[in-house]
Amino acid sequence: MDKFLSTTYKLRRRRFKQRVTSVAPYKAALLAGFVLLVASCVSSLALYYSSLSAAYDGMRAELRHTAAMAATVVDADRHKDFILPAQESTPEYRRAIAPLQAMLIASSDMKFIYTCVLRNNKVFFVLDPTPAGDADGDGVDDKSHIMEEYPEAPPPMLRALRTGIVGADTKVYPDRWGSFMSGYAPIRDSHGHCVGIVGVDMNATQYTDNLSHLRRAVWAGLGVALLMSLAVTICVYTYQRNALIAGAERLASAEALRKAHEELRQTNNELEERVSLRTAELLVAYNATIEGWSRALEMRDHETEGHCRRVTELTLRMGQALGMGEDQLNTLRHGALLHDIGKMGIPDEILLKPGALTEAEWVVMRLHPEYAVQMLQPIEFLEPALDIPRYHHEKWDGTGYPRGLSGEEIPLAARLFAFVDVWDALRSDRPYRRAWAHDRVCAHIRGLAGTHFDPTLTEIFLRVVEETQDESEGWDDLPLAA
Ligand SMILES: [Fe+2]
Ligand SMILES: [Fe+2]
Repeated sequence: MDKFLSTTYKLRRRRFKQRVTSVAPYKAALLAGFVLLVASCVSSLALYYSSLSAAYDGMRAELRHTAAMAATVVDADRHKDFILPAQESTPEYRRAIAPLQAMLIASSDMKFIYTCVLRNNKVFFVLDPTPAGDADGDGVDDKSHIMEEYPEAPPPMLRALRTGIVGADTKVYPDRWGSFMSGYAPIRDSHGHCVGIVGVDMNATQYTDNLSHLRRAVWAGLGVALLMSLAVTICVYTYQRNALIAGAERLASAEALRKAHEELRQTNNELEERVSLRTAELLVAYNATIEGWSRALEMRDHETEGHCRRVTELTLRMGQALGMGEDQLNTLRHGALLHDIGKMGIPDEILLKPGALTEAEWVVMRLHPEYAVQMLQPIEFLEPALDIPRYHHEKWDGTGYPRGLSGEEIPLAARLFAFVDVWDALRSDRPYRRAWAHDRVCAHIRGLAGTHFDPTLTEIFLRVVEETQDESEGWDDLPLAA
C-alpha cells in the first residue's frame, strides 16, 4: 500500500511538473507576477484599513472617556442657573469653570473644554474656562460666552444633547492650528436628567500623523510588492525558459538515440539477410558437393547407376510416412545419397568384379561403411547424416556389419534405409541375376521382418512402396540433391 501511494504521489508530482514546465515562459511569469502583486496589494490594503479603523476607534474612545470624566466635574444643578453673559463675572461662574479649567491645563492635547445646552433646537454655550481675548490671533474672541450660540453644531453633539448618550466626532476637523476631534458627554442633574453636555476638543495631530505614517508604510509595502512581483516574474520566466530548453534538449537526445537505434536495427537486419544468403549459398554448395560425390560413385560403379536417386526418394517417402520434419528429411536425403560413398575406397577389382566375391573380397567390401565414416566425419555439416552410411548394413537380429548392432540399437534412419537399399537392389538387374518381381520382393522383405528388418517398420515400408509404385519409375530422372 505504501509503495502504491508513493508511486501515485510520484506520478502526480511528475504530471504537475510536466504541466508547469509545458506553460509558455512569458505566460507563467506574468501569471506568477500578477498573482503575487494582487495578493500583496490586497493584504497591504487590508492591513491599512484595519490599522486605520483601530486608530480611529481608539481616538473616539479616548474622546468619549475624557468628555465623560469632564461631565463628572460639572455641578449640573447650578449649571442651569447660568443664563446671562453678565454672570461670567460672578464668583459662582468662576467656581463652576474652575474644575474645567484645571482639566484644560492638565491636558496638553486638550484645546477647548466647554458646556452647552439645547434651546429650541439651537445649541448655546454655558461654561468656558478659556480666557477672554484673541490669544490665538484669529480675530475672534477665544472665549465662548454664556448663551452665545454654537455655530453649526455637528450631529454627534446634537445627538448627545438630545439623547444624553456619550458621543464623539466621526471625522477630524482641521484648522490652521492643527487637526481636532471632539467628544461629548451629558451633564445630568440629581434626578438623572440631561441638562446639557460637556464638549472636549482634543488635538488629533498625533492621530493624523499616525495616519500619514501608515499611508507611507502602505505605499512602501506596495512598492516592495511590485519589486518582488517583478523579481518573481523574472525568476519564473528564467526557470520556465530553462525548463523548456532542457526539455527540448532531452527530446533531441531521445530523437538521436531513436535514430541510432533505428540505424542499428537496419544494420542488424542487413547482416541477418547477408548471413541467411551466405547460409543458403553454403547449403547449395554442400548439396552440389554431395551430388558430385554421388555422381562420382555412380560413374565408377556402373552396376548401381540410378540407385542413389531411387533410394533417396523412397527413403524420403518413408520419412514422411513416419511424420519426420524438414530437418530430419534433409538429414535422411544426405545420408541416402552418400550411403555407399565408402565404396570409393574399395579397389576396382573387388567393386567392379563381375562375378561373386570371395570371402576375402567380402571382408574388404564390408569395410565400405567405415570408409564412409572416415570420409564424412571431419565434415561437421554431415555429422547428423552419418547414421545411414555407417549402419545401413546392420540387421535387426544383430548379424549385420560393421558393428553387429541389433534391434533399436540401430539408428532409426539406418533401419528404414535398410528396407529401401535391399528393395532397390532386388528390383534392379545384376550381371548375375535378373531383377525380381514386385510381389516377390515384397514377400522376401516381409519374410525377413524380425531378422534383417525392423518388424514394426515392415508393413509401413510395404505400404509406402505400394503407394509410390506408379511414380517411382520417374525417380531416375530426378536431380540427386535438392
Ligand atoms: Fe552399402
Ligand atoms: Fe546401396
